[in-house]
Amino acid sequence: MAALRLGDEAPNFIAQTTEGEIDFHNWLGEDWGILFSHPADYTPVCTTELGTVSKYTNEFNKRNVKVAALSVDGLESHHGWIKDINETQNTTVNFPIIADEDRKVSELYDMIHPNADSQLTVRSVFVIAPDKKIKLTITYPASTGRNFDELLRVIDSLQLTAYHKVATPANWNPGEDCVIVPSVANEEIAELFPKGHKEIKPYLRMTPQPNLN
Ligand code: BEZ
Repeated sequence: MAALRLGDEAPNFIAQTTEGEIDFHNWLGEDWGILFSHPADYTPVCTTELGTVSKYTNEFNKRNVKVAALSVDGLESHHGWIKDINETQNTTVNFPIIADEDRKVSELYDMIHPNADSQLTVRSVFVIAPDKKIKLTITYPASTGRNFDELLRVIDSLQLTAYHKVATPANWNPGEDCVIVPSVANEEIAELFPKGHKEIKPYLRMTPQPNLN
């Protein structure tokens, strides 16, 4: 199957997880979603990643984001490993980990890259909007733990675009000025962006982040 691209619908699936069986689309409901794979249970980098994700629960909740992890290990392995994650990372894993032993979901989402590893999933990330469209894909190698602050930053940017018609410039961080998207006509700006704006070039119009007081 061809790799999934931005704008594609996130394929639906039914899977066994550490929190019971889920129908992915139903489970997401109206929320945003992150589906991310890791190479294997009981491995060091993955242990730190899943611990970090559970510590970011409030940040994901604030943004209406549901998170699901996946590897090709089974449920028993996941449950045993969760105890280690909780113990070593000083947290409580509180999101589902998909047990994809038959590689059904991994194949659906092209998470196994055979020239990297023929059996194990790489570190794929999919961010899915409430309309079930894929908004972000990132792939990291097994040896590099993900930067979940960056993931939150991208979700903030995606939500600003979805809800406020702004994009975010290079190296943007929350609180900094945003770019008014090109589809907004000059005549609409005053109403849409009451905090004001600065036209640096006709195609480069900046405004304070709209959703801050
Ligand atoms: C890890 O999670 O630590 C890991 C997994 C596979 C290869 C290298 C590192």
